[in-house]
Amino acid sequence: MDLFYKISLNLHSWNRYAILAGGLAVIFFAVKGLRTKSLYSDTGKKSMLFYLSGLHFQLLMGLLLYFVASPITTHAFNDFGAAMKDSTLRFWSVEHAFINLIAIAVAQTGSILVRRKTDDIRKHRTALIWTAVSMALILLMIPMGLMGVDRPWFRF
Ligand code: HEM
Repeated sequence: MDLFYKISLNLHSWNRYAILAGGLAVIFFAVKGLRTKSLYSDTGKKSMLFYLSGLHFQLLMGLLLYFVASPITTHAFNDFGAAMKDSTLRFWSVEHAFINLIAIAVAQTGSILVRRKTDDIRKHRTALIWTAVSMALILLMIPMGLMGVDRPWFRF
């Protein structure tokens, strides 16, 4: 395996856990804030920042894989029409990339809306809804069999 491909694939693979942890933390603090009617605190802001940083890094590695390093997408781009008839090639070259792009845009929009809200309860609610939607899309697109494509959970 080409070294550049190996490094970007490993970083992209492991970073999913930082994203999942960050997203769960945002959801946890938002639910806690709603239940206790507390202020939207620094912890909420920091977990949102952690989640978004993880997503931005994932996007960067994903774009490198997609356009440069991955032999799978390179193969798909050689004959895109034929690739669309192959469910695995279609998953990597269309579904995984585009649904995750949407998920990242949803998370980013959520964080902008949270900043714009002045009421703390509304901040918690906005963080909860937009993060939960982005996490659901991400979970659907992680290759763990849900869409018929499986990859190792831990890459060494
Ligand atoms: C939150 C967003 C994302 C998550 C959680 C995620 C997660 C993953 C995971 C777990 C793998 C399999 C890694 C392995 O085999 O160990 C993978 C592969 C891949 N991802 Fe993503 N990904 C995300 C976004 C993206 C985006 C936005 C793109 C493209 C623009 C992308 C492009 C790819 C490609 C091309 C591969 C396959 C590389 C190969 O095996 O040759 N990903 N992704």
